[in-house]
Amino acid sequence: MANAGRSTAAANDTAALEIFQNQWGVYQKFLQYDYLSNAEACAALHRFLIDDLGRPFRFIDLACGDISGIVGTLRTTPIEHYRGVDLSGPALALAAENLAALPCPAQLDEADFTVAMRDLPQPADIVWISLSLHHLDAVAKGAFMREVRDRLAPGGAFLAYEPTRREGEDRPAYLDRFEAIGRRDWTNLTDREFAEAMRHVRACDLPETMAGWKELGRAAGFASTTELYRSPTDLFRLFLYRP
Ligand SMILES: C[S@@+](CC[C@H](N)C(=O)[O-])C[C@H]1O[C@@H](n2cnc3c(N)ncnc32)[C@H](O)[C@@H]1O
Repeated sequence: MANAGRSTAAANDTAALEIFQNQWGVYQKFLQYDYLSNAEACAALHRFLIDDLGRPFRFIDLACGDISGIVGTLRTTPIEHYRGVDLSGPALALAAENLAALPCPAQLDEADFTVAMRDLPQPADIVWISLSLHHLDAVAKGAFMREVRDRLAPGGAFLAYEPTRREGEDRPAYLDRFEAIGRRDWTNLTDREFAEAMRHVRACDLPETMAGWKELGRAAGFASTTELYRSPTDLFRLFLYRP
């Protein structure tokens, strides 16, 4: 695994990393019970890769986590190369075990996703980020998306599955809705795990509205933003950005 320096661009991001570096087991439960609808988001990604893109591609997975979900998605696509980037040691250790299930050459980089696009050997085909971009404030989100846009190959795409506020819903209202849904549905979490997750979300999550995500894309130079999937809770949406 290569190492890259941490960006100082987003102090919020350092706090956001803490739970993933020290308590990966809590997030693993969210994946195990699919509380954040990662599986359906990956299914929508798969449909895009097969039905819309329809050609071989190189895939960059920013803030990849343990890659337990994405490997199943990518296994049945014409993927030519996989690169996963994350800063959580426990997640990357599991990801290294899961790499074997991919049908292509692959690499994992222990690096900050906000700087990972800067040292590409060639333009990127598909850049994917899931449940991680929302830790950055709007300015840092915009700067990052501009870097992604600038490094996409012709015909490439950027896909982001991220917390999304309803129009007119402010951050406190979104967080209250998030917590109410969690209390109702996430019954396999212990009280401590739920409290830990909510502490992270309330401290670190900066969701945008659909209009906000669209405007960030436009300002970064993307020609179109399309919503490919919305979670049943209406907490998360998958956006496809095309140059
Ligand atoms: C909620 S998890 C999402 C993991 C995976 N993308 C998924 O959808 O299951 C957030 C991930 O972002 C990673 N992360 C947060 N900030 C990061 C940064 N600045 N650079 C790289 N990884 C980061 C964490 O270590 C963690 O693996």
